[in-house]
Amino acid sequence: MILIVDFGAQYSQLIARRVREAGVYCEIVPYTYTIDEIKEKHPKGIILSGGPASVYVENAPKITNEVFNLNVPVLGICYGGQFIAQEFGGKVNKADFREYGRVKLHVQSDDDLFKGIEQDSLCWMSHTDYIETAPNGFEITASSETCPVCAMKNEEKKIYAVQFHPEVEHTERGREIIQNFLFNVCSLSKDWNMGNFAEDSIQKIKETVGDKKALCAMSGGVDSSVAAVMVHKAIGSNLICVFVDHGLLRKDEGDQVEKIFKEKFKMNLIRVNAVERFLGKLKGVTDPETKRKIIGEEFIRVFEEEKQKLKDEFGHIDYLVQGTIYPDVIESGTSTASVIKSHHNVGGLPEDVDFELLEPLRQLFKDEVREVGRELGIPEEIVERQPFPGPGLAIRCLGEVTEDKLKIIREADFIFRDEIKKAGLNNEIWQYFAALPNIRSVGVMGDERTYSHTIALRAVTSTDGMTSDWARIPYEVLEKVSNRIVNEVDNVNRIVYDITSKPPSTIEFE
Ligand code: XMP
Repeated sequence: MILIVDFGAQYSQLIARRVREAGVYCEIVPYTYTIDEIKEKHPKGIILSGGPASVYVENAPKITNEVFNLNVPVLGICYGGQFIAQEFGGKVNKADFREYGRVKLHVQSDDDLFKGIEQDSLCWMSHTDYIETAPNGFEITASSETCPVCAMKNEEKKIYAVQFHPEVEHTERGREIIQNFLFNVCSLSKDWNMGNFAEDSIQKIKETVGDKKALCAMSGGVDSSVAAVMVHKAIGSNLICVFVDHGLLRKDEGDQVEKIFKEKFKMNLIRVNAVERFLGKLKGVTDPETKRKIIGEEFIRVFEEEKQKLKDEFGHIDYLVQGTIYPDVIESGTSTASVIKSHHNVGGLPEDVDFELLEPLRQLFKDEVREVGRELGIPEEIVERQPFPGPGLAIRCLGEVTEDKLKIIREADFIFRDEIKKAGLNNEIWQYFAALPNIRSVGVMGDERTYSHTIALRAVTSTDGMTSDWARIPYEVLEKVSNRIVNEVDNVNRIVYDITSKPPSTIEFE
């Protein structure tokens, strides 16, 4: 496995994606990791990520320099590369010319890292500091017009540094350079694929759970469905799925989920009607993080109560299955990335949880989860489902969550989804939904003045939910959606389309 040490880079996850796409398992860890923690992971290679700081300032993020004595190849990217330069006695300084964007890379070596890479190609740069002088013992292997050390190496120690970003699409030969590091420098083999992952995980779950029982927090979304089917394959009828209908679901969703998992997969599924309970707790609450925390906590409480109820007929339950995936783990601040939102299944978890957690997808990115789903024989209609957040429509209903507002969102959302599907756009768009921004404005319908709600339509393209762009939906489709919503949904007189990317926005509204 490859360990990616995160210095707070915006591209760390992209590095991880590239490594995994190449068929090698990797994990992202914070730079505060100790040498013992690193050793415990038994990495076969270490990648030091970029980062926003300067290596020469006081309190600059640093990983212990013992990583260089592990006899494990190291690749430093941007800040990571500058860190290597400084640690070995080279000089890092503020550059006279900031390089940002596409830059011509001139490779002067045919070593393991640059094997098969032509002398001149384009690479992506994003830096204000640069390696002014390479340390003794290091050979310069690439340069650009304004950057004398675009890459350097100490072949004996297998330490490599690059100033550019090989993980970014715009670096023409970036994929190959990363693969060269994995396969030529680290001598790794391609053994990370979703078929193996599913098989190994099912086996591990069997061993961990034994003949104990597990409860699955089923939401009907891709993640919890794949997690549930995986655990079902491992422990069969010792898994019971609890589907909490918190009243924050999309139109008809509860009935659909019940049908698919009970009838198609023949799984034990209990649908708990907790609508009044959730809406009661959310009454008067307007702060987004408080909403999320309340919903997260309430979920757990409902499961605990179900567990209690099930004790007699089903026996003691030890495990709680959750569909937590890797971006949830990272975004909840378990890594160095700062907390952006507390996703209910990680950050919002109360401390006194009365279950052991079973999170078989914790290491996977979304597209990997879908692939596992296919490997497990889950039909496309579920595997390709757009992501739906655990807190449901509550985080698309700004301000207080009320039945009336939820009804408006549900109907508008249904129309939007229907038209996107009819236009054949559902597979191109990562997520598309309606939100209620809690704004009322003046309109006119017939001869009457109206003072009604605005619906915001959000549709984004993305590969993993970490970054996204707004979908360029044809005007005709938007026009049809807009007409239908104002005509078919009561109390709506204005439709707006959200044209912000993530960052600076997030996909959800709260
Ligand atoms: P944001 O809004 O953070 O969303 O850009 C990124 C992706 O995560 C989904 N999301 C959640 N999923 N529980 C979940 O299971 C949550 O609390 C949650 N919040 C956001 C969101 O729909 C998008 O796909």
